[in-house]
This record gives sequence, C-alpha cells and structure tokens, in this order.
Amino acid sequence: MKEINIRELKENFVSMISDQWALLTAGKTDSYNMMTVSWGGIGELWGKDVCFVFVRPQRYTFEFMEKNDYFTLSFFGGDYKKELGICGSKSGRDTDKTALTGLEPVKVGEAVSFRQSKITVLMRKIAYQDIDPKGFIDPEICSNYKDSDFHRAYVGEIIKVLVDE
Ligand SMILES: Cc1cc2nc3c(=O)[nH]c(=O)nc-3n(C[C@H](O)[C@H](O)[C@H](O)COP(=O)(O)O)c2cc1C
Repeated sequence: MKEINIRELKENFVSMISDQWALLTAGKTDSYNMMTVSWGGIGELWGKDVCFVFVRPQRYTFEFMEKNDYFTLSFFGGDYKKELGICGSKSGRDTDKTALTGLEPVKVGEAVSFRQSKITVLMRKIAYQDIDPKGFIDPEICSNYKDSDFHRAYVGEIIKVLVDE
C-alpha cells in the first residue's frame, strides 16, 4: 500500500461510499468490529481534513467506536459486494464476520483495515454529535428513523490515506 495525500485521490467519493460501499472498522487487531456503511462524507472542518460517518446506537460497531480513538474506512472499488453485504446484515455480536467473509485484517496505525481494501482512510476520532430530529427540516427524513434510533455522527480527522498499488 502506498500512502497518498487525500487531495491526490482520483476516485469520486460519493460513488465510492454510496454506490460501492465501505467498511467502517473500529478497534485494534486483537479486538475490532466492522460494518458496511454507505452514508458518510469527506471534507474539511475546523481547519482539518475529515471524514464523517453515521452509526446507529444498536450497532455492535458503535461500542467499538465509543471505546477507541481511531477508526478506518476501507474501500473495495466495487469488488467484494457479497462480503460487504454480509458485513452489512450480520452483527459481530453473534457472527465472526472476518471468518465468514475471508477478509484479512491488517494493522493500520492504531486501527484495522483489510488486505483486500483498495483504499484505506485512517481517522482519529475528534468529535461526535447525536442526530437530533428537532433539526429535520424535510419531514421525509423521519422515515429513516421509525425506531427513533438516531445515528451518532462521528467526525474523524484524516491521519493517513493508503492506496493499493
Ligand atoms: C449498504 C449498507 C449501508 C449501511 N450503512 C450504514 C450506516 O451508514 N450506518 C449504520 O449505522 N448502519 C449502516 N448499515 C447497517 C449495518 O452495516 C448493519 O446493521 C451491520 O449488520 C451492523 O453490524 P454490527 O452489529 O456488527 O456493527 C448499512 C448496511 C448496508 C448493507
């Protein structure tokens, strides 16, 4: 893997996360959990390059996001959709998703990504904010929260971007 500056990323980030999906992984190699995400963003905030991810409180990954200072987003360029489907439908609470998918964990800084990943972004958790429905201007948004399980939004400062050579 080669380290690049986020500005050198050629891919379209909206397509990368929305269409191709990503794995959000929190924890260290001895204890981590990953789940599929297709909502999120990349940009600048508070003078830093950042990513935003949105995690519902019932996710097992939520516990790892809370306990750990670093997390990764791993992108597979549209490949491994079956594996991402598994990581987006089974919970690490009762399933060994690593064994089931064959995705191979690799250490990235203080966090974890996967050997098969084409692009890995390592983040340092710098802030979180719970989604407050009082701020919903478009009432259509409410349909995403029939169980009132409002996401916690995490802001991660981008520490490292690794691309498959
Ligand atoms: C394409 C796709 C995108 C998803 N995006 C998110 C997301 O952005 N935030 C979220 O909380 N859950 C999202 N999910 C649901 C979680 O990936 C899913 O509930 C997963 O099984 C949680 O695993 P865990 O309990 O091991 O954390 C998505 C699922 C899929 C299939």
